[in-house]
Amino acid sequence: MMSINIAIDGPAGAGKSTIAKKVAEKLSFIYVDTGAMYRAMALYMIRNKINPRDTHLVTEACESVHVAIRYEGGEQKVVLNQEDVTGLIRGEEVGNAASAVARYTAVREKLTNLQQDLAMQQNVVMDGRDIGTAVLPDAQIKIYLTASVHTRANRRYQELVKKGMNPDIHVIEQDIKDRDFQDINRENAPLLKATDAVLLDSSEMSVDEVVNTILKIYKERCS
Ligand code: DC
Repeated sequence: MMSINIAIDGPAGAGKSTIAKKVAEKLSFIYVDTGAMYRAMALYMIRNKINPRDTHLVTEACESVHVAIRYEGGEQKVVLNQEDVTGLIRGEEVGNAASAVARYTAVREKLTNLQQDLAMQQNVVMDGRDIGTAVLPDAQIKIYLTASVHTRANRRYQELVKKGMNPDIHVIEQDIKDRDFQDINRENAPLLKATDAVLLDSSEMSVDEVVNTILKIYKERCS
């Protein structure tokens, strides 16, 4: 039987993972966070002192990197060369390095293959930057989830404050702008709304409103 695939793309901080996780839970689908795979790749480069902006070195190193996904109690775990690195990849340094290594063909090919294999075997909600355009061009549902830079920066700011940190909103906003620029302007599978994707701007929507909109589209098309 053919699996059902829901692709959710959008810029950093648009709320993709929160939304994708909830939709997956409601439909009993597997949630696949592809950003985590790029982050694991970036962690490898950082640990091995490989400049994530050096095409040659990253391409060569990529051959020694094995990224895998495993599920424990419904939670995605990212495994880098046999080591569970799930708790080590969420920081800004790794996120920025992930955006840098994600430009290279060798990295994208490796991770795209893994993502396509996962989606072929089961029903998935997969989030990233190029899922609807490059990884799963035949996905039954494609969502492009965005929000204003200000909203996205503010959400990230609130998250960090909740963790007891004292962040600078201007630094966060600039970081988001830089990452958007890099993800949109790269040559390989850039961040782009697929022509057949539904555009959802979550700036003025609650999480539940976005989730319910996607579930409604699912009901209309797939059930
Ligand atoms: O979604 P995230 O912040 O965890 O992603 C980290 C970086 O990985 C992002 O800035 C660009 C890259 N990425 C990508 O190029 N393609 C994807 N499908 C997912 C992430």
